[in-house]
Amino acid sequence: MMARLLARACCSKALPRGPRCPPGSVTARAWSNGPLTAYMPEAIAFPKPKDHQGLYKVSVEQGDAFWGALGRSRLTWITPFHSVQDCDLRQGRVSWFLGGQLNVSVNCLDRHVHVAPDKVALIWEKDEPGEEVQVTYRELLELTCRLGNTLKRQGVKRGDRVTIYMPPCPLAVASMLACARIGAVHAVVFAGFSAESLADRIRDAQSETVITVNQGLRGGKVIELKKTVDQAVKQCPGVKRILVSMRTDSKVPMTALDVLLEEEMMKEDACCEPAAMDSEDMLFLLYTSGSTGKPKGLVHSQAGYLLFAALTHKYVFNYQDRDIFGCVADIGWITGHTYVVYGPLCNGGTTVLFESTPIHPNPGRYWETVERLKINQFYGAPTAIRLLLRYGDEWVKKYDRSSLKVLGSVGEPINKEAWEWYFHVVGETRCPVVDTWWQTGGICISPRPSNPGAKILPGMAMRPFFGIRPSLLDDKGNVLLENNISGALCISQAWPGMARTIYNDHKRFLETYLTPYPGFFFTGDGVYRTSEGYYQLTGRLDDIINISGHRLGTAEVEDINHHVAVAESAVIGYPHEIKGEGAYVFVVLKKDSGYTQKTLTAELRELISKKIAKYAAPEYVTHRLPKTRSGKIMRRVLRKIVEDKASELGDLTTLDDHEAVQQIIEGHKLLVEGWKSC
Ligand code: PRX
Repeated sequence: MMARLLARACCSKALPRGPRCPPGSVTARAWSNGPLTAYMPEAIAFPKPKDHQGLYKVSVEQGDAFWGALGRSRLTWITPFHSVQDCDLRQGRVSWFLGGQLNVSVNCLDRHVHVAPDKVALIWEKDEPGEEVQVTYRELLELTCRLGNTLKRQGVKRGDRVTIYMPPCPLAVASMLACARIGAVHAVVFAGFSAESLADRIRDAQSETVITVNQGLRGGKVIELKKTVDQAVKQCPGVKRILVSMRTDSKVPMTALDVLLEEEMMKEDACCEPAAMDSEDMLFLLYTSGSTGKPKGLVHSQAGYLLFAALTHKYVFNYQDRDIFGCVADIGWITGHTYVVYGPLCNGGTTVLFESTPIHPNPGRYWETVERLKINQFYGAPTAIRLLLRYGDEWVKKYDRSSLKVLGSVGEPINKEAWEWYFHVVGETRCPVVDTWWQTGGICISPRPSNPGAKILPGMAMRPFFGIRPSLLDDKGNVLLENNISGALCISQAWPGMARTIYNDHKRFLETYLTPYPGFFFTGDGVYRTSEGYYQLTGRLDDIINISGHRLGTAEVEDINHHVAVAESAVIGYPHEIKGEGAYVFVVLKKDSGYTQKTLTAELRELISKKIAKYAAPEYVTHRLPKTRSGKIMRRVLRKIVEDKASELGDLTTLDDHEAVQQIIEGHKLLVEGWKSC
């Protein structure tokens, strides 16, 4: 049976062996009908959110009562917590559910196996349509336990960081949960990242273990993921083992570090005792771009993250017991962590793992999947919506979308045209569109369709979630109390789902989020509060570009300076019809470099795709930089030019070389004309 399961979950041909659980173990209790945990805390009933306004007020004014009741009733604890929180943003102290011990995998698996073992946990929507695989809670627990035991046998210990470089598939989810089960810390790296980016992340996390697949399949193409891992590992002497799952039948060259994952899993028991983890122990690291070069490993801890993931999943999407939740994000991004894996599984839901692209084999893919799987909540990125909108309504209307109840948008602002199309064409004006604003963790500002009758306006994140108290600050640090005003978006009290630190760099965490406005968490985003008190995000306030919903620090791209022809560069985000933003790279060439615009653009695109990832590749390259007399690049001027607002350049008194600006304006015009005529 296990072999068949593994063959469905990946592609192994190993031998079957049934579960053998020591009597009395937590896993044995999950398989049986006995009580699940040694300690079941008194589940304090909390009023159902009928009156959202009232409940929101309780959540921000009586945080201990609100989160305490939810922490007790929604999570299963091994040891109860003694205090709800000890948080002080001014001091950089954030701790939730102190004294409590739990295991995240027990919350996501065992307790559901206990009541509904055959309920479908995962629907793996493979690259080719119509080949979906269903994995029940019982099966996912078995995969997780065997994988947890494999990790232990390979020498992985509590607290060790395990890098996961896999596309969305059941074994990737089992890998995350297996780490959680044994108390290891996972660091999933998006499987589109280059060998160099992967190596940076493995080294930063000091991972000794990497889990990957032989090959990935995406959009009908084979992706040589194991080869990328091998290249990365050459630069990571600390890696001791690579666990390889066979996603395809193709053999890949083995190295001395390789362990065949399915073969090892077959040798292990299907019972793995869950580690008792403190609420604030690390659950995972996830790397995200910062405004300085090095990506930062944001750390999330156990209880607060899980509770926040489950609650936002339930209330933002109005998730009901039998619903099928379709978040099409890759598990390598935080959206995949929170809304493909932890939120839905903690709620005992059925969640879709989408391996493909929105246009494979054709632009009807999402909606054909919705029809076939009967998806009730669909959650995707504005980039994909904008792309599909261009292909026309027929690709949508061809398929039955009557199962849909809520449509979600994530990762970047959704423009009005895309919002309207999503609402009118995809959702047939029947499904509320939730534009969810958040950052690494869980949804913070968003409409809540579970609140019937509440207004939703196009392209607006609308209202804060329970426990989130947004504040607008001006550049002097004054809190702006009035409505109809713009400011820096800060959050004025700690919430359970916030990141706790940057791995091995707490100072950077404080400098990025907590010291810019003492006493507040600074999000880095600008926001407008309407006359009715609704929130509309207006974009980043720092040098981070948001390409197709993926953050990219301009400094990361400016690292191209080591190209032989490049003397200096500046990278600016510019409005891109599909991707939201693109990277516009300004380059000063070295003398007599011999490169033309075309050859240099092509080379830089390739270089950046290799160094970072394909999505980061720049769109334009031009040649001169406007600087102040003291030598600072005038990004403000560059930004106006690329936004086609050359008539609004503002004060140029400090500009050193006026001719450079004129040349860039002319060059930009030519580029745009050339681009349009393509
Ligand atoms: O700038 C905001 C933008 O994405 C940033 C967070 O990126 P990350 O931590 O990678 O989390 C991705 C998952 C959301 C935010 O600071 N952003 C995210 N959602 C929205 C958004 N900007 C506008 N509207 C949104 N709905």
